[in-house]
Order: sequence, then structure tokens, then C-alpha cells
Amino acid sequence: MVRLIFLFALLALTCAGEPSFAADTKLFDTFGGEAGVTSLANDLIDRALVDPRIQHSFDDSNIKRVKRELASQFCELLGGPCVYKGRDMKEAHQKLMITDAQFNALVEDLQDAMEQLDIPFGAQNQLLAKLAPMHATIVTK
Ligand code: HEM
Repeated sequence: MVRLIFLFALLALTCAGEPSFAADTKLFDTFGGEAGVTSLANDLIDRALVDPRIQHSFDDSNIKRVKRELASQFCELLGGPCVYKGRDMKEAHQKLMITDAQFNALVEDLQDAMEQLDIPFGAQNQLLAKLAPMHATIVTK
């Protein structure tokens, strides 16, 4: 019995040291960690604010807050050590009556921002794939 307990304890210890149980932050690291996602969120919103296709959507918004929440959302989506605590996507966008064309405009701005920050193409596509399912919730017009 003692030998059995010892075996279990050894197994638990071995598993705890297994890298496969650790959080996978590879994608988050490719984006430059917290500093990288903060730059990306700031750059994206700065681009949106001068993009005539969508800039008016941000007229009544607290830009500092949008940038901060977006960075936290990107961080979480990419496997970083963040928990997004902002509003859900329906609540945040419902009143804006966002069209398909506006959604695509923001995605183009995001691609430009990622390009500017030298994010590898494969990693760019991984973030886009994580955002794509939000289309149905964000586009309401
Ligand atoms: C996948 C695409 C998008 C993501 C991941 C996203 C994410 C976010 C996040 C995290 C927030 C902050 C929520 C909060 O304040 O708690 C936000 C707010 C906002 N987003 Fe988006 N968004 C997306 C698409 C768009 C598009 C296409 C537009 C307009 C063209 C837009 C315009 C806004 C505006 C104006 C706010 C602030 C709303 C307010 O002040 O009440 N977003 N978004």
C-alpha cells in the first residue's frame, strides 16, 4: 500500500513537470507578449480613427477604454495571461449597427497593423481565425 501511494505521488510529480500541462503561450509570444498586444490594439484603433469607412463609429466612445479592453481581449485570445473583463461583443456593438463592409474595413486595418508590427503571416491568420466567429454577433445591419 505504501509503495502504491509512493507510486501515485511520483506520477503526480512527473505529470506536474510535463510541459504539455503548461499553458501554451507560443502564439502570444509571437505577438510580442503584453507589450505587443498593447501596441497592436493601440495601432488598430488609431487606424480605425482615421479610416473614413468606420471612424464615425467611434465618435461617442472612450478611446482609452476601447484600446485597453481590446488589448486584454487579444491577450486572452492569443493564450496570454489575461482575463478579458470588458463587455460582451453584443453589448459593446449592438447600438452601432455595424455593416459587413464596416466589419471588413476593421479587419483590413487589423491586417495593416499586424503587417506594420512584423507579425508573421501564419500568426496573423491565427488571430483572424479566432475573431471570425464574432462576425455574426458584431454585424447587426
Ligand atoms: C472582430 C472584430 C471586433 C472585435 C474583436 C472588437 C472588440 C471590441 C472590444 C473588446 C471593445 C471594448 C468593449 C468594452 O468597452 O467593454 C469594443 C468596443 C467598440 N468597438 Fe469593437 N470590435 C470588433 C469590431 C468592431 C467594428 C467592425 C467596429 C466599427 C466599425 C467596432 C467599433 C467599436 C466601438 C465604437 C466600440 C466602443 C463602443 C462604446 O463606446 O460603447 N468594433 N470592440
